Amino acid sequence: MKVLAFNASPLMERGNTALLMVPLLEGMREEGCEVELFYTCKLRVKPCLGDNACWTKTPGKCVQDDDVKMLLPKIQEAEMIVFGTPVYVDGMTGTLKNLIDRFIPTIEPYFVMRDGHCRHPSRNPDKHTKVVLVSNCGFWEMDNFEPLVTHMRAICKNACWEFAGALLRPHGEALGYMVRNGIPVQDVLDAAKDAGKELVRNGKISEKNMKTVSRNLVPLETYVEIVNESFKQALDKLGQTKGSP
Ligand SMILES: Cc1cc2nc3c(=O)[nH]c(=O)nc-3n(C[C@H](O)[C@H](O)[C@H](O)COP(=O)(O)O)c2cc1C
Repeated sequence: MKVLAFNASPLMERGNTALLMVPLLEGMREEGCEVELFYTCKLRVKPCLGDNACWTKTPGKCVQDDDVKMLLPKIQEAEMIVFGTPVYVDGMTGTLKNLIDRFIPTIEPYFVMRDGHCRHPSRNPDKHTKVVLVSNCGFWEMDNFEPLVTHMRAICKNACWEFAGALLRPHGEALGYMVRNGIPVQDVLDAAKDAGKELVRNGKISEKNMKTVSRNLVPLETYVEIVNESFKQALDKLGQTKGSP
């Protein structure tokens, strides 16, 4: 199986998103997948020009000359796409949204009715593509992922992709801290790896692995205290503690 993965954290391999992406993709590789990973921050992707040229002037091709030229054939070949992103202002990061906007050449301009809804047909209707979302966020609660998951599900419907599931890590900063300080959290990383294997074997992630990846790492009150203390320490160094709780 060909897997195309994007990590859209500006911190790339040093970030908390990578802590889940790395074992997930490792699990997929161990099941025999050919995995290609791109960091969106390293890609040269200009914003969509919005002129519909890829529909009406050069059908199926974008007129812009950047890394999307290299990526579009990969998108069309991939049997599974993994989108990894931290939550930024209640959604995906800008580099990922910018990239997904540029996938428009893969669909036809016409309107058709699909499941009682107006959509565009795929240029490759016989091809089945599964999509996996990997995300982490700074706030403590799971509901911080709701806008992002809703958005990703909508993107999948629009693009004729199957949404195969999500690995969601709330208070993701705690995961990074625990990994760096040797505090036991291996069950979370193992569940991410096992989820990768499940996606290849069964096309979905089990409830058990999703729950383990999202499990509480630290009580809410403790997390708030630790986060505030670390910001206070950083600002103390600048002599700017005004406004701290
Ligand atoms: C510009 C910006 C916006 C953010 N917005 C949110 C947000 O809306 N909700 C949230 O829970 N965390 C938010 N965060 C926190 C990140 O999701 C969190 O730090 C995450 O662990 C970063 O993942 P990474 O290390 O892979 O980049 C934001 C961080 C930044 C830098």
